[in-house]
Amino acid sequence: MRWRSWLLISTLLICCACSKGNEDHQNNAAGDSIPENATIWQRAAFRWGAAVNAKLLRNNAAYRAIVTREDNSVTPENAMKITRIRSSPDTWNFSDADYIVNYAIENNKRIHGHTLIWYRVPAWLETYQADAAGWEQLFKEYIQTVVSRYKGKVGSWDVVNEAIDDNGNLRDCVWLRNLGADYIARAFQYAHEADPDALLFYNDYGQEQSELKRNASLALINSLISRSVPIHGIGLQMHISKNTSEENLAAAINTAAKTGLQIHISELDIAMNPENNPDLTYNTALAEMQSKKYNFIVKTYNAIPEAQRFGITTWNVTDGDSWIVDAFKRPDWPLPFDKDYKRKAAYRGILEALK
Ligand code: G3I
Repeated sequence: MRWRSWLLISTLLICCACSKGNEDHQNNAAGDSIPENATIWQRAAFRWGAAVNAKLLRNNAAYRAIVTREDNSVTPENAMKITRIRSSPDTWNFSDADYIVNYAIENNKRIHGHTLIWYRVPAWLETYQADAAGWEQLFKEYIQTVVSRYKGKVGSWDVVNEAIDDNGNLRDCVWLRNLGADYIARAFQYAHEADPDALLFYNDYGQEQSELKRNASLALINSLISRSVPIHGIGLQMHISKNTSEENLAAAINTAAKTGLQIHISELDIAMNPENNPDLTYNTALAEMQSKKYNFIVKTYNAIPEAQRFGITTWNVTDGDSWIVDAFKRPDWPLPFDKDYKRKAAYRGILEALK
């Protein structure tokens, strides 16, 4: 009978090992496995987050589960934009923003507010008629209403987004036309008055694409610092592609860090089909190339002083909800998760950068 007991014990041991393996490992799109309990945010000495969509968070359980498991910071993708909050002069709509804020609080996540002042505004604002005092009142009231509502809940804000155009000049927009160039400094002051504890960011794209954009953003930020405007951080969006050079990525991160402000890689994604090829399919070579690029960014970011590492936020969660696919009407795979919510090779690249 002894051989029977031995067989039973061996079978039990094998079964336990197999089920443990299933629990701890999840195949990713690149075919290798990553321990399920090794999340990026658990390993990083900074926050790891994503831009989240209120509708998906409400209605899609798999989407909600992946955000809950994988992120300890969230940025509302669209819910806190003026287009959503104030779609007409008489309508204030906070339902999606409130939903995300409540979700984040319940699930112990940091909330980064995006964005108070941007050139993209609702149609009524493009044609709004008022004198200088009227515009100033509308501007101040908007910023302070939103910031005050979430005081103590939203700890940081993109106060001004994309104020510099691709030629390095202040971008033409309703705010510049009606309030003058100093609208940027005043936006920070008004936000600070409404919540003196909130960290306030200037957020822009393309600092890794051209020296011109990089220098123009830094000149603006340094001038705000030198005037003691309450600015605490820089958001480097980093909507990049497989072609963005490591040299330019490092220059964007390291020159921003020289200001001494908090650095947020605020909208990271890596487009793999910048050529807009409608027939491209994702393959192992592309997955590995993307993994290396994510790895490089995270390593470079991890080398700036810890006190300046506000965190890294990807723009959207999975390849299935990326804005890129929508906006450019092409196949693309910019994020660390595939459309089936599986970790990609990019995820491994990020984890490896944190070793
Ligand atoms: O919700 C409406 C829907 O009711 C309507 O039927 C549909 C028709 O077009 O539009 C839907 O709204 C769209 C919205 O996304 C939600 O999907 C808007 O048209 C579309 O313009 C909007 O795009 C957003 C874009 O900002 C403009 O606000 C993207 O989702 C969002 O990812 C993108 O995010 C920006 C950052 O805020 C700033 N940096 C660049 C980044 C990417 O463009």
